[in-house]
Amino acid sequence: MKVLVTGAAGMLGTDVCKVMASRGHLVTASARANGEGEIRPGFLPLDITDTAACREQIRALCPDAILHCAAWTNVDGAERDLEGAYRGNALGAWNVASAAAAVGAIMVYVSTDFVFDGEKGTPYTEFDRVNPLGAYGASKEAGEQLVRQTLPHRHIIARTSWLFGIHGKNFVTTIQRLAQKLPEVPVVSDQVGCPTFTPDLAGKLADLLEAPLLPGTYHISNAGHCSWFAFAQAIVKKSELKTPVVPITGAEYAEKFNSPTRRPAFSPLRPLALEMRGMNDLRPWEDALDRYLVTLADNPSR
Ligand SMILES: NC(=O)c1ccc[n+]([C@@H]2O[C@H](COP(=O)([O-])OP(=O)(O)OC[C@H]3O[C@@H](n4cnc5c(N)ncnc54)[C@H](OP(=O)(O)O)[C@@H]3O)[C@@H](O)[C@H]2O)c1
Repeated sequence: MKVLVTGAAGMLGTDVCKVMASRGHLVTASARANGEGEIRPGFLPLDITDTAACREQIRALCPDAILHCAAWTNVDGAERDLEGAYRGNALGAWNVASAAAAVGAIMVYVSTDFVFDGEKGTPYTEFDRVNPLGAYGASKEAGEQLVRQTLPHRHIIARTSWLFGIHGKNFVTTIQRLAQKLPEVPVVSDQVGCPTFTPDLAGKLADLLEAPLLPGTYHISNAGHCSWFAFAQAIVKKSELKTPVVPITGAEYAEKFNSPTRRPAFSPLRPLALEMRGMNDLRPWEDALDRYLVTLADNPSR
């Protein structure tokens, strides 16, 4: 399969490229110019907010599938710049979907547990009603809608949560750094979700593209769920650090770090669509964390 990956220099995009290439697919990795305005070597230059560029590049490449990993991912920044978040997450997805439609490509759109309000009390399935609490979740949900409308028969919406991977800054490395620096690490205990290892998610996206296409929405995360506090405790323990992790509330965090975002209190994703297709074999998040820590130890420069 010939595939195009957007946002290929990001945390998930890097692993998606690796996994797809390891399975014998022909991968084109695209990325926008870096912060200095320079084209990133080895990447097809593509800014997803540029409608004409998306149309031209995708027509020229004519991929079978597009794995859309590019996004506005700054959750607090979205509250401060709503238009920017919608440009990245809604217009960007719309541009890519429309260009995919023109060449008959399948599009994989990566979405988030932040489309839910966290009030349900049990894990969310793909058939639960969305109700984002903040601008990031709303802009991602707008992207979902645009992809469904533009590519009704050729889309996969893959909702995931709490990503950690070797190619980006993430909660695991942040906790390790804080545990080496502070006498104790305060972590939010009243928000619960599913930590997800990016190579595991990338593998499941590949499985879905290689299986007969059933277009629709899929929840994909590692198995199990926990609070940020329990996740941090596991990180500290498995990293053989001794620093105590102390629980704080989401409200205390928001005040301490000046975060304007309302976050869902309980947003684990149940992968009902994968379960129904017999494709739900993602490992528990604790095992994925073990794997990640081994990978980190093998790549000390990360
Ligand atoms: N991280 C999480 O916990 C999490 C949870 C649920 C869902 N997701 C979703 O998972 C996907 C991947 O996230 P990630 O964690 O891998 O984020 P990431 O590391 O921030 O990667 C996102 C990439 O998108 C690129 N990008 C942003 N705007 C762009 C534009 N206009 N044109 C082209 N590229 C652009 C960024 O480029 P620059 O480097 O130039 O900024 C970056 O490389 C996103 O759709 C995100 O919403 C993430």
